[in-house]
Amino acid sequence: MGGFASSHHQVVAKLEERGHARLIGTCDPRADQFVGEQQTWKLAARDVQVFTDYRAMLEACHRDLDLVVIPTPIQLHAEMHAAATALGLPTYVEKPPTLDPAELEKMIAADARARKASHVGFNFIIEKKRLALKERLLAGEFGAIRGAALAALWPRPASYFARNNWAGRLMMGERVVLDSCFGNAMAHFVHNLLFWTGGPALYSWAQIAAVRAELYRAHAIEGADTFFVEADTTAGVTMRFALSHACAGASTHGETVVCDKATLRYAVGGSVEICWRDGRVEKEALAPFDALQENHLDYYRYLRGESPRPATTLADSRPFVALNALAHVSSGTITPIPAGQISGVRDEQEQKNYLQVANMKTTLDSFLAQGAWPSAGGWGRGPADVVTPADLGRFHSVVRAMAAK
Ligand SMILES: NC(=O)c1ccc[n+]([C@@H]2O[C@H](COP(=O)([O-])OP(=O)(O)OC[C@H]3O[C@@H](n4cnc5c(N)ncnc54)[C@H](O)[C@@H]3O)[C@@H](O)[C@H]2O)c1
Repeated sequence: MGGFASSHHQVVAKLEERGHARLIGTCDPRADQFVGEQQTWKLAARDVQVFTDYRAMLEACHRDLDLVVIPTPIQLHAEMHAAATALGLPTYVEKPPTLDPAELEKMIAADARARKASHVGFNFIIEKKRLALKERLLAGEFGAIRGAALAALWPRPASYFARNNWAGRLMMGERVVLDSCFGNAMAHFVHNLLFWTGGPALYSWAQIAAVRAELYRAHAIEGADTFFVEADTTAGVTMRFALSHACAGASTHGETVVCDKATLRYAVGGSVEICWRDGRVEKEALAPFDALQENHLDYYRYLRGESPRPATTLADSRPFVALNALAHVSSGTITPIPAGQISGVRDEQEQKNYLQVANMKTTLDSFLAQGAWPSAGGWGRGPADVVTPADLGRFHSVVRAMAAK
């Protein structure tokens, strides 16, 4: 009921008013802490049963259910998905489905028991302009893809890392969490870049051939808040990703795809720009849209048999989960950014404290443009190893060692 689950509640309530869905049960072990929300969502008047254990909810409700929404902490997704699919029920599972590649394989196998495929809630694959542009890419209009880049700086205050007991964690007990800007908050954009470079079908994501990454932290967390990642796809395209929460000011994000005849720049919530080598520029604004509501509606259409597939299935999430895992394996360690480079910034309007790294923007720009690694610029570590999917076998031991430090 809290966190992003409250957004799902609001959307489902709206869709219920419009006759698209009906909520019959909801569950939160802390349900008594959401009395106000339950009143706002009119759960009693809507005849919604409230549970504190999801197994009891499934037992009581499963005969009347068409789908189960799983907007819970990452490390709970797999067991909840397993319980729903054991009853034949498909799920709308929030992104990331899991950040453990072995667990993802179990989820993919479990999903085959459901009446329909589950949908993973990466927000932006359904965007009509994105799909139309990918069609043009696949048709060869822009020539071959030569490279792709993601730049994403989303400041997060210190309080963000205290929002729940799994924020910034690598593991909880024996379970892999890997909460980070790359694996969680900005996972959408990483998945989007893999979508641009995937082919030949429209709904396809690039396969990862090799990865090199440097992971850093400025905040006092177990995991990383700053990622520099380079990955080669099996089609020979080099992608670079630079993402951080260790910054202040306005959030920025942009996906770039460099092709022989044009460079495509796509900024969710901003604009899409096609800069042709001959000087022509096509630019269009991307109107804001209710990503969660549209993802629900898109998934309902699939469940009703009106569309052939969910926007992202569990199997479609493989490249993203592998890339995040290999980034950890390649980096091998999470390096504290030298204290002298970090300063505190107080946002008086928000009444929140941020950390910012002095040369973050220039480091990000030279990594994305020239492939210059922060390690070569004095960020307190040596270069990382290049790893391939064959190194995924080392993933658990690397994460355990990182968490033990
Ligand atoms: N698609 C998006 O734009 C978007 C945005 C934010 C978060 N998310 C995703 O949503 C998921 C939840 O993230 P969050 O930050 O809201 O987490 P959170 O820790 O705030 O948890 C959400 C809710 O789940 C409840 N919960 C915990 N254990 C539970 C259990 N055993 N049974 C039922 N409910 C339980 C919590 O009490 C809380 O109310 C994550 O996968 C996250 O990545 C997606």
